[in-house]
This record gives sequence, C-alpha cells and structure tokens, in this order.
Amino acid sequence: MAGGVRVGFVGCGGMGTAHMKSLVKNPKAVLTAFCDVNLEKAEAAAKNYGSEDAQAFDSAEEMFKSTKLDAAYFCLPPFAHGAEMEAVKHGIPFFVEKPINLYLDQARRIARAVERKKLLTSVGYMNRYRRGVQMVREILKEDPPILVLGGWIGKSPSPTPSAPIVFWWVRKEKSGGQFHEQVTHTVDLARFLCGEVVEVQAFYAKGFNRDVTPGYNIEDAAVVNLKFAGGAIGNLWASCSSNGGGGGVSLKVYCLKTTALFTGWKHDLRILREGQEPTEVPGEDDIFAVEDEAFIDAVLNDDPSRILCPYSEGLKTLEVTLAANRSMETGRPVKIRHR
Ligand SMILES: NC(=O)c1ccc[n+]([C@@H]2O[C@H](COP(=O)([O-])OP(=O)(O)OC[C@H]3O[C@@H](n4cnc5c(N)ncnc54)[C@H](O)[C@@H]3O)[C@@H](O)[C@H]2O)c1
Repeated sequence: MAGGVRVGFVGCGGMGTAHMKSLVKNPKAVLTAFCDVNLEKAEAAAKNYGSEDAQAFDSAEEMFKSTKLDAAYFCLPPFAHGAEMEAVKHGIPFFVEKPINLYLDQARRIARAVERKKLLTSVGYMNRYRRGVQMVREILKEDPPILVLGGWIGKSPSPTPSAPIVFWWVRKEKSGGQFHEQVTHTVDLARFLCGEVVEVQAFYAKGFNRDVTPGYNIEDAAVVNLKFAGGAIGNLWASCSSNGGGGGVSLKVYCLKTTALFTGWKHDLRILREGQEPTEVPGEDDIFAVEDEAFIDAVLNDDPSRILCPYSEGLKTLEVTLAANRSMETGRPVKIRHR
C-alpha cells in the first residue's frame, strides 16, 4: 500500500464527514473515493477531503467496480445498508457505523459473507476504545457485574438552525427508534463489559412529544430490562422528550466490591471500590481518531488484533436492540439465541 491506505466512503453525511475529518489528518490514509445517493454531497466531500485523483459516485456498485481501494467506510442510516456486499465481493476490508443495520436477515447475510472471506471489519462502537472502559473490563473479570443501569436521555428532536434533525432519525421504520439507533452504544458497552444478553423485556411511552419535527413517529421514551448470561441484570433507557434537562448519557455497573460510573458522551469514569479512594478517568476527546487509527493500522498490517468490535460483534449488539424492538411490539419478553 505504497502512498497509504486508499479509502472509499459510502455515505458522506454527518458521520461520514466526522471520519473524513479524522482520517485526513492520518498520514497512513488517502481518501480517494466518495459515494452518496446525493451526488452533490459526494462531490463536496471529494473536494474538501479527497486526494488529487479523488472521484465521486452516486452508486456504491460503480465505486467498487471502477476504483482501486484498500478499505471502505459505510456511514449510512440504519435502513440504508446492503452495499457492504460490494466490499465483500471485491475483498475490501470495511468499517461500518453503528447500528450495523435495521434488518437482521441482511446483517446476518453480510456477516456470513464476511466470515467466508475472512474479511477484516470494524464497527463504530468507539467507546470500546476508551481507557476507562478497558480498566473496568479488567476489574469485572475479578469482580463480576450484578446490576447494570444506563442510557441516553435528551430533549424533543425539534430542528433548529444550529442543530438540524436528519429526517430518518425520527422515523421508526428508518432509524429503528432511539433505543436501536442511539442507546445501541450503551447496549454494546454493556455487552463488552458484562457479557452476552440472553433476554430482554421492553416498555415504551408515546404520544407526549407533539408538534415536534414533521414525520416524528418514534417512541418518546423506552426502558429495556436485560438478563445477562453470567447472571447479572440490567435496565437501559432512552428518552427524547425530556426538555427540563437532567438527562444525558450514563452507564453504571454495580458489583460486590466495585461500582463503575460512566457519565456523559465522553464516558468520564469514576470507580468506587470498597475500602479505597475513588479513581477518576476522564474520557478521551478524540475517540473517533483512536478507532479510525486502529482500523487503518489493522488494514495496513493485515492484523485485526487492535480492532475491538468486528462485524460479528456488531451483529450481536444488533440482535439485542432488535429484540427490544420486538418486545415493544409484542409486549412480551424476548429470549436471544446468538447464532
Ligand atoms: N458513532 C457515533 O457516535 C455516531 C454519531 C452519529 C451518527 N452515527 C451513525 O452513523 C450513521 C450515519 O449517520 P449520519 O449522522 O451520518 O446520517 P446522515 O443522514 O447525516 O448521513 C447519511 C448519508 O448517507 C447517504 N445515503 C443514504 N442512503 C445511501 C445509499 N444507499 N448509498 C449511499 N449513500 C446513502 C445520505 O444521502 C446521507 O448523506 C447512522 O447509523 C448513525 O447512527 C454514529
């Protein structure tokens, strides 16, 4: 890969741009191809972040056919996946943003194809790379988790000029809802720290958010009870209707001798241990750059050992959030059997 890892993007919206901004500073990466169903976005990205020979496309099939890539980034809304199969067909390692899909069957097909080709993959659960998360993961091996609480609580999704809401986020059939799209981060972290989830039971609230952004049809809030294979229990929550404040992002893990408290988007950590002074571990600011560097290095060295969330792991997290959605629909607990 003389000259660097040649990267192509599928999806040049908000998150695609966030990765472009971090990768353009990485001397080991060259951004050479940009695809978006909105060609103007692909062209603008090529102009702003691309190499001299960068090309723009409105078809992923065309991009993989006509460019020579070493790696691809898929930064698509949950409903719009599927083009990962093009990367598999051409044997290109890929990074995919969370959640990896909205449709379990399609995600399983992609996972099987990735496995058959032994393709290097990475999923954008960036919190796995945080130093505090690594520390807690080690502690929990000795002092197992018992109770897990956490989630994301925010305001009603009304668009403002400084914070426009993307149309798909507020549509259940496009995003999968806030639990699936956003609290997926917390579900993944809970799995990473506490092991597999074997059963979920979800409740939701609707009808309180009125006159918010047009087309809004997701839940106003959801709570999801979890059972872990190791015996722990959990309760994770989502709310996009809490305008008084006091919400935010959190994850709390309670063990016999240890309490791990993660707070805020950066997952600042406070560890409380029986008989010891509290330990504080601030969250990293540039966590996207950390996960991007791990992926680019893995591609460059053909060594997946630094990747903390391959596609197969993203699939397991997807199984949990989709099971929660099924429980919301049916009103019943749903057991999860990871294949
Ligand atoms: N890791 C994080 O913290 C984080 C933060 C924000 C978003 N995300 C995730 O990133 C993903 C993308 O979110 P976003 O905020 O960039 O959304 P976005 O709407 O800003 O961008 C998505 C882009 O994909 C394009 N697109 C849609 N279908 C396409 C297709 N079939 N082929 C090519 N392009 C297509 C759209 O035109 C748009 O430009 C979502 O899954 C979201 O959950 C992750």
